[in-house]
Amino acid sequence: MQNQERSYNTAQIVLHWAIAALIIFNYFVSDGMGRAFRQHLDDSNTGYNLVASLHVYVGLAVIALVVLRIIVRLMSKKTKTASASLLDRVSRIVHEFLYLLMFLVPVFGATAWYIGIHIMGDVHEIAMNIMMSMVLLHAAAALFHQYVLKDGTLLKMLGQK
Ligand code: HEM
Repeated sequence: MQNQERSYNTAQIVLHWAIAALIIFNYFVSDGMGRAFRQHLDDSNTGYNLVASLHVYVGLAVIALVVLRIIVRLMSKKTKTASASLLDRVSRIVHEFLYLLMFLVPVFGATAWYIGIHIMGDVHEIAMNIMMSMVLLHAAAALFHQYVLKDGTLLKMLGQK
């Protein structure tokens, strides 16, 4: 989903895959979060079973890594080409929306868990579903670039180009 010239530095590649792995981890390690959350709302010292503890701390790590990723991205930004295609512009918007959601989803979860705002649990889950749809769209676009357009996009994010 990138234009032809852009390549990624090591920090960008490591952060990209680390964030992807942690988000997928938290998507699957979330069983019983609703129950743990209700216990936690009744008494903030409870609800920390193994799954809930992993979910909360891995999710907090995602916030830190996404902030770092945004800083690295801003620092490594190449000058924009005047002739960016429509596809490049759509790609940029999708990426920026994805960054926003990767930051907001765990922040909404943390707001529910630490501040005890019940409705934020629902907001967290709705935003998470939108984010996972965007993640699938992003992965499909990366595969389309790699195997249909054959522009090596996936190889760039694997550090091979
Ligand atoms: C990017 C990271 C995250 C992902 C992908 C994610 C994913 C999920 C998923 C899939 C559920 C639904 C569980 C179910 O109903 O079976 C959930 C629920 C929940 N998550 Fe997360 N989560 C993330 C980060 C966090 C963080 C950082 C916290 C708190 C510090 C958190 C707190 C919660 C809570 C409290 C619920 C239950 C909400 C409710 O039932 O109303 N999550 N999360």
